[in-house]
Amino acid sequence: MSVISRRTLLGAGAAALHATAQDAVRLGIIGLGLRSRAHLAALKKLPGGKLVALSDLDGQRMAAVNQGLAGSAAAYTDWRELVRDRNVQAVVIVAPNYLHHEMAIAALEAGKDVLLEKPIAISWEHARQVEKAARAGGRILAIGMQRHFGKPEAEARALVESGALGKVQLITTADLRGDWNPASWQFTDPRGKKTNWRYLRRTAGSSELEMSIHTLGFLQSIVNSPMARVSATGGTVHFSGRETRDLSSAIVDFANGARLSYSLCLFARGAGGDLTMVGDKASLRRSRGELQFLVDGKPQPAPAPANLPAGDAEVLMYTDFFDSVRRRRPPSLSLDVALEASKLAYAIDLSIGQGRIVTAADFA
Ligand SMILES: NC(=O)c1ccc[n+]([C@@H]2O[C@H](COP(=O)([O-])OP(=O)(O)OC[C@H]3O[C@@H](n4cnc5c(N)ncnc54)[C@H](O)[C@@H]3O)[C@@H](O)[C@H]2O)c1
Repeated sequence: MSVISRRTLLGAGAAALHATAQDAVRLGIIGLGLRSRAHLAALKKLPGGKLVALSDLDGQRMAAVNQGLAGSAAAYTDWRELVRDRNVQAVVIVAPNYLHHEMAIAALEAGKDVLLEKPIAISWEHARQVEKAARAGGRILAIGMQRHFGKPEAEARALVESGALGKVQLITTADLRGDWNPASWQFTDPRGKKTNWRYLRRTAGSSELEMSIHTLGFLQSIVNSPMARVSATGGTVHFSGRETRDLSSAIVDFANGARLSYSLCLFARGAGGDLTMVGDKASLRRSRGELQFLVDGKPQPAPAPANLPAGDAEVLMYTDFFDSVRRRRPPSLSLDVALEASKLAYAIDLSIGQGRIVTAADFA
């Protein structure tokens, strides 16, 4: 049985805002930067949602998005007005990380369902408060970690769940990639200084929370056990003038005995990063998108995973979200897994920051 409890997230409140099976879910989106493009593209491919409201500080961005919509959406420079808009049934939050906590809680408390881009919040305490608001109001809270729906991840997860690997004992992997997009939104500090929000701890949280969370979320759903201890090192060793790290390495012990060795590097454009999972029956290796199943070190045909939904990860994520909203059932990426993945990112950050081993007791 899963070590992480599968709490249900059902609730009837704010019935007036619910969609019936036939209705399109009426969405309001906050934040129209780089990431919103993937959201808007997915929504164009799907009949189940209708964008009825937009919010961004940048009026030109809202006008440009509105031009591409079949029907015009309400446009708000103050996101609180979008949250108050009674025509909005579900709020999609695609704003910089430090705003997630306040925006998500306001939307949930206004009775809206929420699709919240990762990370949930920039601190563990704030993430738990967002969780509490969703559970208290019986709202759907889906976290935008689309790799949960990605084909390679779904295939690997299905293989592990089939028992073909046996008990997963060791995972080694790395995110070796290029730097953050320099065109990210610029945060203005109280003295008027503008900085890419991904470079600052107060706006991004950490690089692990901003980037590693995808890999950590995937691995959390594979291991399905809480973190027990984390030991990590890292720093800003390549780029200058930023607070968030460009390099980190962590060793994680999970409560069920599985171990993870993970690295993040932001100055390794194109290097990729292989993944190896060692079970007590077989191993799984992913290199350049190809999965290899190995028994006694010899490649074998992997048992074909059955009935995996096909398609673009964001389209699958929205399909799942709309179904959750309509049927009042928890999203298939459970909030527990998303929270546990966040905990790993906070633990890596804490371990590096304080130069010590972080344990589950740090999050009690
Ligand atoms: N799931 C993924 O793969 C993925 C990929 C990239 C980014 N993201 C997440 O999406 C979010 C946005 O990232 P991005 O790359 O689009 O950032 P970005 O810097 O490109 O865009 C941020 C947008 O938010 C707007 N904004 C800032 N403050 C606002 C406010 N108070 N009210 C309304 N709008 C405001 C900005 O004007 C800008 O248009 C982040 O949380 C990030 O972690 C997720």
